[in-house]
Amino acid sequence: MLVAPSILSANFGHLAQEVASLCEAGADLIHVDVMDGHFVPNMTIGPVVVEAVAQTSTKPLDIHLMVEDNSFFIDLFAPFGPRYISFHYESERHHHRVAMKIRELGVSPAIALNPATPVACLEEILPFVDMVLLMSVNPGFGGQSFIPIFHKIRELKELLEVKNPDCLIEVDGGVSDKNIGELRKAGVDVAVAGSYIFREGDYKRAIERLRGVEV
Ligand code: DX5
Ligand code: ZN
Repeated sequence: MLVAPSILSANFGHLAQEVASLCEAGADLIHVDVMDGHFVPNMTIGPVVVEAVAQTSTKPLDIHLMVEDNSFFIDLFAPFGPRYISFHYESERHHHRVAMKIRELGVSPAIALNPATPVACLEEILPFVDMVLLMSVNPGFGGQSFIPIFHKIRELKELLEVKNPDCLIEVDGGVSDKNIGELRKAGVDVAVAGSYIFREGDYKRAIERLRGVEV
């Protein structure tokens, strides 16, 4: 299981130090939450800050767009060379076009799904993406309570066996030591965690716990 700490809960006054500490602590990806104040009722960071994060990070970036205008933001962020850019199923009319645009820019496309959106909606787009991000909170804020979506993970896993066996499953929202065991059992490949890691303080210990290493 890969662990992708979300910097949303980091101390933004010392962001470079926080990103360096997460990389040193064993993060596999750095999860970057981009919110536009329209798709979600919150705003986070734009290209100036994401560029600084990309320059500091020794691990690949996993950019999670929570925006209305996906195409605009993809053009802004793809030049920083992230591993993944995920866009929300609910914010887009032209899913194939957007997935193909991300790939043409040299980035792996991922599609994100809100907790109340059924997995079946993804059936046609699955062969065109490298990862599905299943939200286990409604996007917009760190530190919210985990919504059980275990049945969605299992359903998605079955669909992927037919449609795209190499596609990864990522879960984001309220992930902690309390639910990671069951998430792992359900078949999650990438765990995103913000408040749990930053609340723990010892980033290495928190990341290893999520990965399943007893420390
Ligand atoms: C929520 C974001 C998440 C968030 C996770 O909209 O997409 O990545 O930072 O934070 P926690 O782990 O605190 O729920
Ligand atoms: Zn996220």
